[in-house]
Amino acid sequence: MDLESVLVTGANRGIGLELVRQLVHSAAPPRFIFATHRTADCQQELEEIAKGAPDGVKLILVQMDVTSSSDISAARAKVEETLGEGLGLQLLVNNAGILLIQRRFPSTTEDNLKEQFATNTVAPVMIFKEMYPLLQKAAARRGERCLSVNRAAVLNISSFAGSIDKAWLPPRSWLASVGYRTSKAALNMSMRLISATVRDSGVLVVNMCPGWVKTTLGGEEIADLEPEESVKDILRTLPTLGDAHQGAFIDRHGKEIPF
Ligand SMILES: NC(=O)c1ccc[n+]([C@@H]2O[C@H](COP(=O)([O-])OP(=O)(O)OC[C@H]3O[C@@H](n4cnc5c(N)ncnc54)[C@H](OP(=O)(O)O)[C@@H]3O)[C@@H](O)[C@H]2O)c1
Repeated sequence: MDLESVLVTGANRGIGLELVRQLVHSAAPPRFIFATHRTADCQQELEEIAKGAPDGVKLILVQMDVTSSSDISAARAKVEETLGEGLGLQLLVNNAGILLIQRRFPSTTEDNLKEQFATNTVAPVMIFKEMYPLLQKAAARRGERCLSVNRAAVLNISSFAGSIDKAWLPPRSWLASVGYRTSKAALNMSMRLISATVRDSGVLVVNMCPGWVKTTLGGEEIADLEPEESVKDILRTLPTLGDAHQGAFIDRHGKEIPF
């Protein structure tokens, strides 16, 4: 990949942390990697990665609760200030997410639904909106007409659990979580709609499921994949995505998932 700048949300643990780690140590690392974390006391691993980053690679830690509009605009200001006038942001990874397991309907509560929608659906859209001018700038800098991550892109870490087509899947306890599944379905739909609007400005938008990954959210003991494997696949697939994937919902290998 030919990436100059990346911002990853929810980068202090799980898939986000591993994404940052692998980007920093990739064969051609981005010059600027912005890693967001929600609180001040959770950045130790990011700081370790920053210390070990190769020369010329800046890992910049940014405090951001993704549901806070003031944090989002402060993060944009920090990205702008760091990159200066010309560069623009090349890749936004909307990774931060929550799964608040709740027993099946009718146990569903209003707070449970609202919190998951705020984090999993509203926040990625608002962050995209805030960063859009910077993404447009990055897209315009490249002379290409095609969509690609090497130009400008938004990668939304979604979930196959948000597939309406697959809603009948055998109900493991968390698969009955109305809030998580509908918030990811709504994320997919939001980004599909937005992808049509931003196509002409040269910003690629995709929704990708990382697989079932051993993290706090996925379940350290029960999930299939180590974060290393999932992220390796994500980073292998990213540069293969283009015009045909605009607004798509895909797995980490680039295979389409039915909406
Ligand atoms: N693991 C899986 O099997 C799996 C499968 C499909 C999709 N996904 C998706 O992958 C993404 C990453 O999940 P993960 O598995 O890496 O989970 P994780 O280990 O639980 O990490 C979640 C990350 O999101 C952050 N986050 C949550 N709410 C936030 C908020 N309001 N503001 C800022 N950051 C917030 C967390 O920060 P704190 O440390 O501050 O809480 C943490 O950094 C999520 O979108 C998830 O839905 C995961």
